[in-house]
Amino acid sequence: MKTIRELDVQGKRILIRVDYNVPLDEAGSITDDIRIRMSLPTIRYAVEKGAKVILCSHMGRPKGKRVAEFSLAPAARALSVLLDKPVALAPDCIGPEAEAVVNRMRDGDVVLLENLRYHAGEEQNDPEFSRGLAALADVYVNDAFAVSHRAHASVEGVTRYCAEKAAGFLLQKEMDYFHRSMAEPIRPLVAIIGGAKVSSKLGALENMLDKVDRLLIGGAMANTFLKSRGLDVGASKVEDDLLDAARQILDRAGEKGVKVYLPVDVIAADRFAADAVTKQVPVQDIPPGWMALDIGPATVLLFTEVLADARTIVWNGPMGAFEMDAFSRGTMALAHAVASAHALSITGGGDSNAAIKKSGEADHISYMSTGGGAFLELMEGKTLPGVAALETA
Ligand code: 3PG
Repeated sequence: MKTIRELDVQGKRILIRVDYNVPLDEAGSITDDIRIRMSLPTIRYAVEKGAKVILCSHMGRPKGKRVAEFSLAPAARALSVLLDKPVALAPDCIGPEAEAVVNRMRDGDVVLLENLRYHAGEEQNDPEFSRGLAALADVYVNDAFAVSHRAHASVEGVTRYCAEKAAGFLLQKEMDYFHRSMAEPIRPLVAIIGGAKVSSKLGALENMLDKVDRLLIGGAMANTFLKSRGLDVGASKVEDDLLDAARQILDRAGEKGVKVYLPVDVIAADRFAADAVTKQVPVQDIPPGWMALDIGPATVLLFTEVLADARTIVWNGPMGAFEMDAFSRGTMALAHAVASAHALSITGGGDSNAAIKKSGEADHISYMSTGGGAFLELMEGKTLPGVAALETA
Protein backbone atom coordinates (compact mmCIF):
# COMPACT_ATOMS: atom_id res chain seq x y z
CA MET A 1 0.00 0.00 0.00
CA LYS A 2 1.47 3.29 -1.15
CA THR A 3 1.51 6.05 1.47
CA ILE A 4 1.15 9.78 1.16
CA ARG A 5 4.93 10.14 1.54
CA GLU A 6 5.36 8.50 -1.86
CA LEU A 7 3.15 11.04 -3.64
CA ASP A 8 4.25 14.35 -5.03
CA VAL A 9 1.59 16.66 -3.62
CA GLN A 10 3.33 20.01 -4.05
CA GLY A 11 0.83 22.52 -5.45
CA LYS A 12 -1.65 19.72 -6.15
CA ARG A 13 -5.29 19.40 -5.13
CA ILE A 14 -5.34 16.49 -2.69
CA LEU A 15 -8.64 14.91 -1.70
CA ILE A 16 -8.27 13.32 1.75
CA ARG A 17 -11.05 11.03 3.00
CA VAL A 18 -11.18 11.44 6.78
CA ASP A 19 -13.68 10.05 9.29
CA TYR A 20 -15.12 12.97 11.23
CA ASN A 21 -18.17 10.99 12.26
CA VAL A 22 -17.71 12.27 15.81
CA PRO A 23 -20.14 12.18 18.73
CA LEU A 24 -22.04 15.42 19.47
CA ASP A 25 -23.97 16.42 22.59
CA GLU A 26 -27.46 17.92 22.51
CA ALA A 27 -26.03 21.42 22.00
CA GLY A 28 -24.13 20.17 18.93
CA SER A 29 -20.69 20.27 20.58
CA ILE A 30 -18.17 17.52 19.89
CA THR A 31 -17.78 15.26 22.94
CA ASP A 32 -14.80 13.25 21.64
CA ASP A 33 -12.49 14.76 19.01
CA ILE A 34 -9.99 11.88 18.83
CA ARG A 35 -10.79 11.10 15.20
CA ILE A 36 -10.09 14.72 14.24
CA ARG A 37 -6.84 14.79 16.24
CA MET A 38 -5.68 11.54 14.68
CA SER A 39 -6.11 13.03 11.19
CA LEU A 40 -3.80 15.97 11.92
CA PRO A 41 -0.44 14.43 10.91
CA THR A 42 -1.66 13.74 7.36
CA ILE A 43 -3.27 17.17 7.00
CA ARG A 44 -0.23 18.99 8.41
CA TYR A 45 2.06 17.03 6.10
CA ALA A 46 -0.01 17.96 3.03
CA VAL A 47 -0.19 21.62 4.12
CA GLU A 48 3.57 21.77 4.68
CA LYS A 49 4.13 20.30 1.23
CA GLY A 50 2.08 23.14 -0.26
CA ALA A 51 -0.90 21.06 -1.35
CA LYS A 52 -4.46 22.35 -1.57
CA VAL A 53 -6.06 20.15 1.05
CA ILE A 54 -9.65 19.10 0.36
CA LEU A 55 -11.10 16.99 3.16
CA CYS A 56 -14.24 14.90 2.87
CA SER A 57 -16.15 12.90 5.46
CA HIS A 58 -19.53 11.54 6.39
CA MET A 59 -21.38 12.39 9.60
CA GLY A 60 -24.15 10.19 10.99
CA ARG A 61 -26.65 8.51 8.71
CA PRO A 62 -28.73 11.24 6.99
CA LYS A 63 -29.79 8.71 4.30
CA GLY A 64 -29.06 10.83 1.24
CA LYS A 65 -30.85 13.94 2.55
CA ARG A 66 -29.55 17.30 3.68
CA VAL A 67 -30.24 17.14 7.44
CA ALA A 68 -28.86 20.14 9.35
CA GLU A 69 -28.04 18.21 12.52
CA PHE A 70 -25.57 16.09 10.51
CA SER A 71 -23.62 19.07 9.16
CA LEU A 72 -19.84 18.90 9.43
CA ALA A 73 -19.75 22.53 10.63
CA PRO A 74 -18.71 21.57 14.21
CA ALA A 75 -15.89 19.43 12.79
CA ALA A 76 -14.68 22.30 10.56
CA ARG A 77 -14.58 24.62 13.58
CA ALA A 78 -12.76 22.09 15.74
CA LEU A 79 -10.22 21.37 13.01
CA SER A 80 -9.57 25.06 12.49
CA VAL A 81 -8.73 25.43 16.19
CA LEU A 82 -6.47 22.35 16.18
CA LEU A 83 -4.62 23.44 13.04
CA ASP A 84 -4.62 27.08 14.07
CA LYS A 85 -5.65 28.14 10.59
CA PRO A 86 -8.94 28.82 8.80
CA VAL A 87 -10.86 25.76 7.54
CA ALA A 88 -13.70 26.69 5.20
CA LEU A 89 -16.72 24.40 5.04
CA ALA A 90 -17.85 23.99 1.42
CA PRO A 91 -21.69 23.95 1.24
CA ASP A 92 -21.65 20.72 -0.75
CA CYS A 93 -19.23 17.88 -1.52
CA ILE A 94 -19.69 17.67 -5.32
CA GLY A 95 -21.00 19.95 -8.06
CA PRO A 96 -20.67 23.67 -8.79
CA GLU A 97 -20.73 24.87 -5.16
CA ALA A 98 -17.90 22.55 -4.14
CA GLU A 99 -15.95 23.34 -7.32
CA ALA A 100 -16.26 27.09 -6.72
CA VAL A 101 -14.75 26.74 -3.23
CA VAL A 102 -11.94 24.51 -4.48
CA ASN A 103 -11.15 26.83 -7.40
CA ARG A 104 -10.53 29.68 -4.96
CA MET A 105 -8.02 27.66 -2.89
CA ARG A 106 -4.38 28.61 -2.64
CA ASP A 107 -1.47 26.28 -1.88
CA GLY A 108 -1.57 25.25 1.79
CA ASP A 109 -5.29 26.03 2.22
CA VAL A 110 -7.59 23.53 3.93
CA VAL A 111 -11.25 23.06 3.02
CA LEU A 112 -13.74 20.56 4.43
CA LEU A 113 -16.53 19.45 2.11
CA GLU A 114 -20.03 19.13 3.57
CA ASN A 115 -21.33 15.68 4.59
CA LEU A 116 -20.87 13.08 1.84
CA ARG A 117 -23.98 11.22 2.98
CA TYR A 118 -26.21 14.16 2.05
CA HIS A 119 -26.03 12.40 -1.34
CA ALA A 120 -27.43 8.89 -1.75
CA GLY A 121 -24.63 8.22 -4.26
CA GLU A 122 -22.07 8.01 -1.46
CA GLU A 123 -23.46 4.88 0.21
CA GLN A 124 -24.56 3.44 -3.15
CA ASN A 125 -20.98 3.70 -4.39
CA ASP A 126 -22.44 5.43 -7.44
CA PRO A 127 -19.83 5.91 -10.22
CA GLU A 128 -21.33 9.30 -11.14
CA PHE A 129 -20.89 10.52 -7.57
CA SER A 130 -17.37 9.05 -7.38
CA ARG A 131 -16.45 10.91 -10.59
CA GLY A 132 -17.85 14.12 -9.11
CA LEU A 133 -15.55 13.75 -6.11
CA ALA A 134 -12.52 12.79 -8.19
CA ALA A 135 -13.07 15.83 -10.41
CA LEU A 136 -12.21 18.07 -7.46
CA ALA A 137 -8.69 16.71 -7.03
CA ASP A 138 -5.45 15.53 -8.63
CA VAL A 139 -4.61 12.89 -6.01
CA TYR A 140 -6.61 10.89 -3.47
CA VAL A 141 -5.62 9.84 0.03
CA ASN A 142 -7.63 7.59 2.34
CA ASP A 143 -7.02 8.42 5.99
CA ALA A 144 -10.39 7.19 7.19
CA PHE A 145 -9.68 3.77 8.70
CA ALA A 146 -12.94 3.83 10.69
CA VAL A 147 -15.07 3.81 7.52
CA SER A 148 -12.77 1.69 5.34
CA HIS A 149 -15.04 -1.34 5.84
CA ARG A 150 -17.69 0.45 3.77
CA ALA A 151 -17.49 0.12 -0.03
CA HIS A 152 -18.77 3.66 -0.41
CA ALA A 153 -17.99 6.12 -3.19
CA SER A 154 -15.51 8.26 -1.23
CA VAL A 155 -13.75 5.16 0.12
CA GLU A 156 -13.80 2.73 -2.78
CA GLY A 157 -15.37 4.04 -6.02
CA VAL A 158 -13.38 7.28 -6.12
CA THR A 159 -10.07 5.42 -6.33
CA ARG A 160 -10.97 4.32 -9.88
CA TYR A 161 -11.12 7.89 -11.13
CA CYS A 162 -8.06 9.44 -9.46
CA ALA A 163 -4.71 9.37 -11.20
CA GLU A 164 -2.89 8.66 -7.93
CA LYS A 165 -3.99 7.19 -4.62
CA ALA A 166 -2.37 6.42 -1.29
CA ALA A 167 -2.95 5.86 2.42
CA GLY A 168 -2.64 8.64 4.97
CA PHE A 169 -0.65 8.29 8.18
CA LEU A 170 -3.64 7.25 10.31
CA LEU A 171 -4.72 4.47 7.97
CA GLN A 172 -1.11 3.35 7.74
CA LYS A 173 -0.79 3.32 11.53
CA GLU A 174 -4.02 1.38 12.02
CA MET A 175 -2.97 -1.26 9.47
CA ASP A 176 0.52 -1.50 11.01
CA TYR A 177 -1.00 -2.19 14.42
CA PHE A 178 -3.37 -4.71 12.84
CA HIS A 179 -0.39 -6.58 11.37
CA ARG A 180 1.54 -6.50 14.62
CA SER A 181 -1.41 -7.66 16.69
CA MET A 182 -3.40 -10.05 14.52
CA ALA A 183 -1.48 -10.96 11.36
CA GLU A 184 2.00 -11.53 12.76
CA PRO A 185 1.73 -11.23 16.53
CA ILE A 186 4.42 -11.98 19.05
CA ARG A 187 3.04 -14.83 21.14
CA PRO A 188 1.30 -15.59 23.38
CA LEU A 189 -1.56 -13.66 21.76
CA VAL A 190 -4.57 -13.21 24.05
CA ALA A 191 -7.87 -11.85 22.76
CA ILE A 192 -10.45 -10.40 25.12
CA ILE A 193 -13.91 -10.36 23.62
CA GLY A 194 -16.82 -8.87 25.49
CA GLY A 195 -19.90 -6.77 24.92
CA ALA A 196 -23.59 -7.46 24.84
CA LYS A 197 -24.15 -9.87 22.00
CA VAL A 198 -22.56 -13.07 20.71
CA SER A 199 -24.35 -12.40 17.40
CA SER A 200 -22.33 -9.26 16.67
CA LYS A 201 -19.05 -10.98 17.61
CA LEU A 202 -19.60 -14.41 16.09
CA GLY A 203 -17.40 -13.74 13.05
CA ALA A 204 -14.63 -12.27 15.22
CA LEU A 205 -14.77 -15.20 17.65
CA GLU A 206 -14.58 -17.74 14.84
CA ASN A 207 -11.71 -16.05 13.05
CA MET A 208 -9.74 -15.29 16.21
CA LEU A 209 -9.78 -19.01 17.12
CA ASP A 210 -7.34 -19.49 14.25
CA LYS A 211 -5.06 -16.76 15.55
CA VAL A 212 -4.99 -16.67 19.33
CA ASP A 213 -3.37 -18.74 22.01
CA ARG A 214 -5.95 -17.80 24.64
CA LEU A 215 -9.39 -16.26 24.54
CA LEU A 216 -11.08 -14.42 27.40
CA ILE A 217 -14.84 -14.00 27.07
CA GLY A 218 -16.74 -11.53 29.25
CA GLY A 219 -19.69 -9.16 29.08
CA ALA A 220 -23.29 -10.23 28.61
CA MET A 221 -22.24 -12.47 25.73
CA ALA A 222 -20.48 -14.74 28.23
CA ASN A 223 -23.93 -15.75 29.56
CA THR A 224 -24.73 -17.53 26.30
CA PHE A 225 -21.47 -19.48 26.59
CA LEU A 226 -22.13 -20.33 30.23
CA LYS A 227 -25.65 -21.50 29.43
CA SER A 228 -24.33 -23.56 26.52
CA ARG A 229 -22.27 -25.44 29.10
CA GLY A 230 -25.41 -26.23 31.04
CA LEU A 231 -25.33 -23.47 33.66
CA ASP A 232 -28.49 -21.75 34.87
CA VAL A 233 -27.79 -18.04 34.44
CA GLY A 234 -31.12 -16.83 35.89
CA ALA A 235 -32.61 -13.83 34.08
CA SER A 236 -29.29 -12.87 32.48
CA LYS A 237 -29.38 -11.82 28.86
CA VAL A 238 -28.90 -14.94 26.70
CA GLU A 239 -29.16 -15.50 22.95
CA ASP A 240 -30.88 -18.87 22.98
CA ASP A 241 -30.67 -19.21 19.21
CA LEU A 242 -26.87 -19.11 19.50
CA LEU A 243 -26.38 -21.78 22.15
CA ASP A 244 -25.27 -24.27 19.50
CA ALA A 245 -22.92 -21.74 17.92
CA ALA A 246 -21.41 -21.04 21.35
CA ARG A 247 -20.95 -24.75 22.00
CA GLN A 248 -19.26 -25.19 18.62
CA ILE A 249 -16.86 -22.36 19.34
CA LEU A 250 -15.87 -23.95 22.64
CA ASP A 251 -15.45 -27.35 20.96
CA ARG A 252 -13.40 -25.95 18.09
CA ALA A 253 -11.20 -24.08 20.55
CA GLY A 254 -10.54 -27.37 22.31
CA GLU A 255 -9.60 -29.05 19.02
CA LYS A 256 -7.24 -26.23 18.13
CA GLY A 257 -5.61 -26.11 21.56
CA VAL A 258 -6.86 -22.58 22.20
CA LYS A 259 -7.62 -22.04 25.87
CA VAL A 260 -10.94 -20.29 26.48
CA TYR A 261 -11.63 -18.60 29.81
CA LEU A 262 -15.19 -17.76 30.85
CA PRO A 263 -16.25 -15.87 33.98
CA VAL A 264 -16.18 -17.94 37.17
CA ASP A 265 -18.09 -15.38 39.23
CA VAL A 266 -20.27 -12.38 38.45
CA ILE A 267 -21.93 -9.34 39.96
CA ALA A 268 -25.59 -10.31 39.82
CA ALA A 269 -28.38 -7.74 40.11
CA ASP A 270 -32.10 -8.04 40.79
CA ARG A 271 -32.78 -5.77 37.79
CA PHE A 272 -30.99 -3.77 35.09
CA ALA A 273 -30.62 -0.48 36.95
CA ALA A 274 -27.85 1.60 38.51
CA ASP A 275 -29.49 1.26 41.95
CA ALA A 276 -30.31 -2.45 41.69
CA VAL A 277 -29.63 -4.76 44.63
CA THR A 278 -26.41 -6.62 43.80
CA LYS A 279 -24.63 -9.78 44.91
CA GLN A 280 -21.25 -11.24 44.10
CA VAL A 281 -21.78 -14.90 43.26
CA PRO A 282 -20.07 -17.85 41.56
CA VAL A 283 -21.57 -18.38 38.09
CA GLN A 284 -23.24 -21.55 39.40
CA ASP A 285 -25.20 -19.53 42.00
CA ILE A 286 -26.94 -16.74 40.10
CA PRO A 287 -30.28 -16.48 41.96
CA PRO A 288 -33.42 -17.19 39.93
CA GLY A 289 -34.71 -13.95 38.38
CA TRP A 290 -31.34 -12.19 38.82
CA MET A 291 -28.99 -11.18 36.02
CA ALA A 292 -25.20 -11.09 35.61
CA LEU A 293 -24.10 -7.51 34.85
CA ASP A 294 -20.35 -7.63 35.45
CA ILE A 295 -17.55 -10.13 35.96
CA GLY A 296 -16.69 -10.71 39.61
CA PRO A 297 -13.37 -10.38 41.51
CA ALA A 298 -12.37 -14.04 41.11
CA THR A 299 -12.77 -13.67 37.33
CA VAL A 300 -10.70 -10.49 37.42
CA LEU A 301 -7.94 -12.43 39.19
CA LEU A 302 -8.19 -15.29 36.70
CA PHE A 303 -8.17 -12.99 33.65
CA THR A 304 -5.31 -10.94 35.10
CA GLU A 305 -3.30 -14.11 35.55
CA VAL A 306 -3.98 -15.18 31.95
CA LEU A 307 -2.83 -11.76 30.71
CA ALA A 308 0.30 -11.63 32.84
CA ASP A 309 2.66 -13.30 30.35
CA ALA A 310 0.84 -12.25 27.16
CA ARG A 311 3.06 -10.57 24.58
CA THR A 312 0.16 -9.32 22.48
CA ILE A 313 -3.37 -8.43 23.62
CA VAL A 314 -6.34 -7.57 21.40
CA TRP A 315 -9.42 -6.27 23.22
CA ASN A 316 -12.90 -5.60 21.92
CA GLY A 317 -15.98 -5.19 24.13
CA PRO A 318 -16.48 -4.41 27.82
CA MET A 319 -16.82 -7.00 30.60
CA GLY A 320 -20.11 -5.65 31.92
CA ALA A 321 -22.57 -2.75 31.98
CA PHE A 322 -19.65 -0.42 32.79
CA GLU A 323 -21.65 2.75 32.12
CA MET A 324 -23.26 2.12 35.52
CA ASP A 325 -20.73 2.43 38.36
CA ALA A 326 -22.11 -0.61 40.18
CA PHE A 327 -21.13 -2.78 37.19
CA SER A 328 -17.95 -1.08 36.02
CA ARG A 329 -15.39 -2.66 38.36
CA GLY A 330 -14.66 -5.71 36.23
CA THR A 331 -14.01 -3.70 33.08
CA MET A 332 -11.93 -1.13 34.98
CA ALA A 333 -9.84 -3.85 36.64
CA LEU A 334 -9.27 -5.52 33.28
CA ALA A 335 -8.17 -2.20 31.78
CA HIS A 336 -5.57 -1.95 34.58
CA ALA A 337 -4.45 -5.53 33.91
CA VAL A 338 -4.08 -4.90 30.17
CA ALA A 339 -2.24 -1.64 30.82
CA SER A 340 0.25 -3.31 33.18
CA ALA A 341 0.94 -6.36 31.01
CA HIS A 342 4.29 -6.31 29.19
CA ALA A 343 2.50 -6.72 25.91
CA LEU A 344 1.56 -4.87 22.78
CA SER A 345 -2.05 -3.98 23.60
CA ILE A 346 -4.58 -2.97 20.98
CA THR A 347 -8.20 -2.07 21.63
CA GLY A 348 -11.01 -1.13 19.28
CA GLY A 349 -14.68 -0.26 19.39
CA GLY A 350 -16.45 2.71 20.94
CA ASP A 351 -17.39 0.94 24.19
CA SER A 352 -13.97 -0.55 24.91
CA ASN A 353 -12.24 2.75 24.21
CA ALA A 354 -14.74 4.67 26.38
CA ALA A 355 -14.15 2.15 29.19
CA ILE A 356 -10.38 2.50 28.92
CA LYS A 357 -10.65 6.27 29.08
CA LYS A 358 -12.87 5.96 32.15
CA SER A 359 -10.22 3.74 33.77
CA GLY A 360 -7.55 6.41 33.28
CA GLU A 361 -5.33 3.89 31.46
CA ALA A 362 -5.55 5.30 27.92
CA ASP A 363 -1.88 6.35 28.00
CA HIS A 364 -0.80 2.82 28.94
CA ILE A 365 -2.48 1.03 26.07
CA SER A 366 -0.21 0.61 23.02
CA TYR A 367 -2.90 1.65 20.57
CA MET A 368 -6.61 2.47 20.75
CA SER A 369 -8.04 2.06 17.26
CA THR A 370 -10.29 4.80 15.89
CA GLY A 371 -12.44 2.09 14.30
CA GLY A 372 -15.50 0.31 15.62
CA GLY A 373 -17.01 -1.66 12.73
CA ALA A 374 -13.75 -1.54 10.76
CA PHE A 375 -11.75 -2.93 13.70
CA LEU A 376 -14.28 -5.73 14.17
CA GLU A 377 -14.09 -6.63 10.47
CA LEU A 378 -10.32 -6.99 10.78
CA MET A 379 -10.91 -9.29 13.76
CA GLU A 380 -13.32 -11.22 11.53
CA GLY A 381 -10.50 -11.74 9.04
CA LYS A 382 -12.14 -9.61 6.36
CA THR A 383 -10.37 -7.39 3.86
CA LEU A 384 -11.45 -3.78 4.11
CA PRO A 385 -12.71 -2.46 0.73
CA GLY A 386 -11.05 0.92 1.35
CA VAL A 387 -7.68 -0.74 1.87
CA ALA A 388 -8.10 -3.18 -1.03
CA ALA A 389 -8.92 -0.24 -3.33
CA LEU A 390 -5.56 1.36 -2.54
CA GLU A 391 -3.74 -1.86 -3.29
CA THR A 392 -5.08 -2.35 -6.83
CA ALA A 393 -3.04 -0.74 -9.61
C1 3PG B 1 -18.13 4.54 12.56
O1 3PG B 1 -18.41 5.43 13.37
O2 3PG B 1 -18.02 3.34 12.89
C2 3PG B 1 -17.82 4.93 11.15
O3 3PG B 1 -17.79 6.30 11.00
C3 3PG B 1 -18.77 4.28 10.17
O4 3PG B 1 -20.07 4.78 10.33
P1 3PG B 1 -21.30 3.93 9.78
O5 3PG B 1 -21.43 2.73 10.67
O6 3PG B 1 -22.49 4.86 9.85
O7 3PG B 1 -20.98 3.52 8.37
